[in-house]
Amino acid sequence: MCALLPDLLGAAAGWPLGSPPWPSEIADDHSPVEYSVAFDQHGVPTLRLLVECVADAPSPLGNQIAALSAVHALSAKVPLSIERLADVAGPFLTSTPAEPFSVWFSLVARPDTGPMLKVYLNPHARGRAQAGDLVATALDRIGFIGGERTIRAALRGLSTVDDYSFFALDLDDRPDARAKVYVSHTAATTADACRAAAVSRDGDPAEVAEFCAAAAGTDGPCQGRPLVSAYTFLPGDGAVPSGYSLYVPIRDYVGDDAEALARTMSLAKRYGLPDTAVRAAVDAVRGRDLADGRGLIAHLSLRTGPPHPGMTVYLSSEAYGVTTARHRVGAA
Ligand code: TRP
Repeated sequence: MCALLPDLLGAAAGWPLGSPPWPSEIADDHSPVEYSVAFDQHGVPTLRLLVECVADAPSPLGNQIAALSAVHALSAKVPLSIERLADVAGPFLTSTPAEPFSVWFSLVARPDTGPMLKVYLNPHARGRAQAGDLVATALDRIGFIGGERTIRAALRGLSTVDDYSFFALDLDDRPDARAKVYVSHTAATTADACRAAAVSRDGDPAEVAEFCAAAAGTDGPCQGRPLVSAYTFLPGDGAVPSGYSLYVPIRDYVGDDAEALARTMSLAKRYGLPDTAVRAAVDAVRGRDLADGRGLIAHLSLRTGPPHPGMTVYLSSEAYGVTTARHRVGAA
């Protein structure tokens, strides 16, 4: 997996510490990398890296071009479906890409397979007003016809309080595509998350609501960074996604990472996850006391329904900076 990173990061692979030459939105400190570890009850945890490929002279268009040539370079080393990317990505790629990104990647290391690659495209590539059309076109092209209408029906005012944030596609060489559509929810409550989950065929809305309240420490409205829904379309799903995940940007709902870890550990216990592995993942990236900052644990997500229910912990490298802790509610 590490051997593939220089291709995927582009010029960012050689960046010095200090300040980042391109303000990537992948992480709060503008690092072009975020770690995540997906846990479930049965298997070995899956390690993923979300990365932005950056050009030698970074710019929205330069980075888009660098990202596309990275996929081509990578396809010589791992089995990837470049055709699938060509089918879907077209409408998202323009000569004037929107901020903050046009293509991100996730490199996934599962113990049972070789490395896998996911691509994230920006639904706002042609402006906010066209986000729904881009998502609809992409889903239709890979056989999930009418999928965008299903999601749209569940949303509170689209592009006002709910908004498409990412379109993700697996690029491995399995014959059928898996796609994920992400929606961010401004000032949402646990009831909103529950309603968003109810659209999926096999998601678990009640569990999503419980997870949301426990991870955010409130029933909302969540006024910090938005809650995010992801709808997973698996082969054969047609217009109705089978899986649903909720992402809670826990860093905006805690005083510091010690509080974030305590919540993470109690959720791990609730879901029967290997707590020593969860703690080890946090310790592996930690370069400071947990009480001395906020955002090492950036998001927690609950995956409900297929393909792999469980919880994922998102971890920051903090390579370029640490967000300051704040007083906890009720702390002296
Ligand atoms: N840093 C961005 C954010 O928090 C993008 C991002 C990185 C993100 N990892 C994520 C968004 C996981 C949702 C879920 O919005």
